[in-house]
Amino acid sequence: MSEKKLRSHEWYGRKGKDGFIYRSWMKNQGFPHHLFEGGKPVIGICNTWSEFTPCNAHFKDLAAALKRGIWEAGGFPLEFPVMSLGECSIKPTAMLFRNLASMDVEESIRANAMDGVVLMCGCDKTTPSLVMGAASVDLPTLVLSGGPMLVGRFKGKKIGTSDVWRFAEDFKTGKLSQEEFIEAEAAMSRSVGHCAPMGTASTMAAMVEALGLALPDNATIPAADSRRKVLAHMAGIRIVEMVKEDLKMSKILNRKAFENAIMVNAALGGSTNFILHLTAIAKRIGVDIDLTDFDKFSAMIPLIANVQPSGEHWVEDLFYAGGLPAVLKEIKDKIHVDNLTVTGKTLGENIEGAECYDRNLIGTLDKPIKPDSGIAVLKGNLCPDGAVIKPSAASPNLLKHTGRAVVFENIDEYKAKIDQPDLDIDENCVMVMKNVGPKGYPGMPEVGNMGLPSKLLEKGIKDMVRISDGRMSGTGYGTVILHVSPESAIGGPLALVKNGDIIELDVPNRSLNLLISDEEMEKRKKEFKPIELPYERGYVNLYLDRVNQAHEGVDFDFLQGSSGSEVKRDSH
Ligand code: FES
Ligand code: MG
Repeated sequence: MSEKKLRSHEWYGRKGKDGFIYRSWMKNQGFPHHLFEGGKPVIGICNTWSEFTPCNAHFKDLAAALKRGIWEAGGFPLEFPVMSLGECSIKPTAMLFRNLASMDVEESIRANAMDGVVLMCGCDKTTPSLVMGAASVDLPTLVLSGGPMLVGRFKGKKIGTSDVWRFAEDFKTGKLSQEEFIEAEAAMSRSVGHCAPMGTASTMAAMVEALGLALPDNATIPAADSRRKVLAHMAGIRIVEMVKEDLKMSKILNRKAFENAIMVNAALGGSTNFILHLTAIAKRIGVDIDLTDFDKFSAMIPLIANVQPSGEHWVEDLFYAGGLPAVLKEIKDKIHVDNLTVTGKTLGENIEGAECYDRNLIGTLDKPIKPDSGIAVLKGNLCPDGAVIKPSAASPNLLKHTGRAVVFENIDEYKAKIDQPDLDIDENCVMVMKNVGPKGYPGMPEVGNMGLPSKLLEKGIKDMVRISDGRMSGTGYGTVILHVSPESAIGGPLALVKNGDIIELDVPNRSLNLLISDEEMEKRKKEFKPIELPYERGYVNLYLDRVNQAHEGVDFDFLQGSSGSEVKRDSH
């Protein structure tokens, strides 16, 4: 290929002063001159390594393997850091900063001399933030995930993130001591990698594989397995070829790719966070999807993978059973197998050799693990722009339920009251939490699967209907209605619910209603006073100004779409 075609030539291939400036300082790293003049594709490695993001803390090793592949294929790798979001580290919630990280990624890719980019993603928000940012530039782009942890072991039992919620309940009721709790912490996180169940991180790793942005097996090879490094090496070889083929993101991310991702998420019983992130990515690349697509395409696919939290096992086990390619093979008659992927081949060609080695782990369309999976989208006077529930993680007997509302005006009131013995609540009540939406918290935290009152846990109650405008961890479970839109902080109907109101949930008919008259609803609307959001300066001020609602992906209005990869002006 001619040198001129390379984008990096606009930096390193220049004559005179401009070329001097773009190259000279780079040479302080010991790069010989021929790297800059041979027309070698420059591959950016967008790395979310951070010791504050433990799920991505092994990314230096992984980047080294990736670089070996890039060198081998004749590319020139240059690694750069971007904002890294550790789900369990960041206050008040990593989601508050997803859009900020995506801006960092977008501008870093566009402003620098790269021809293609590998996105190194792991912990929950590190995947959507990188993919969103890269989509707004649209270079040849390949996603390399960090892989799941090895399954934890505690008192002879396999454990992972989904157990945190169970341990927390056992601790509350005195079944686990503080010492045992501390032992469990170390037992759960015993290897590098992200959460071991099909939580949001693995959901995202599977999403990019289903979209066609990652190599086969990206979703499931454990982080600690040497084959993860082989995958990184192969990703390095492949991204160099992708630059030569000009295989940009927009050639892969068509509408069918998004439909595939939704169907695959149903097959895996993946995280509800998937909805927000996929919607935001689609709006960046200019594909039109909305909540009804999640309901419609999810409904076509039962639960195929027997992985927590919807099933019993772990992402590590799923790898041994054949990995995501084997799951895709089971639903190949439903998904669009003719879609192009980063391999340069179609999704169908990628899975030709896939095989299932364990029917306990991977079901079939005729004999699925569970008949209902995916995401149900609810509508009604409580959620005019939609709300979501994950039926595979809910209690079947609660999917149709009418109960008395017990309202918490915000997270602080919930924490103060939930364990008080005189709280007027029983197992038939519907727990309602307000002001945990995109603006209300702010940042839409993962508190929607609010823990049950101690006095009901002690009675042996395991699940209740819970409603909020917040999110839930991908490892959470229960009859939990999330993402109520519009949110309560801006006057959505959720803000108008009062203690003692009756709420009717009907998942089979996709409805969620507050049983009060229209007149009463109007009266309450008039009385509504917005809550104070005391953020006068800085990023959070910008966030509150420009963030959109859950059904739109919680992105900033001004970030939707793409600005391309061209930069017209030089730095000197
Ligand atoms: Fe990082 Fe779960 S905390 S993936
Ligand atoms: Mg999570």
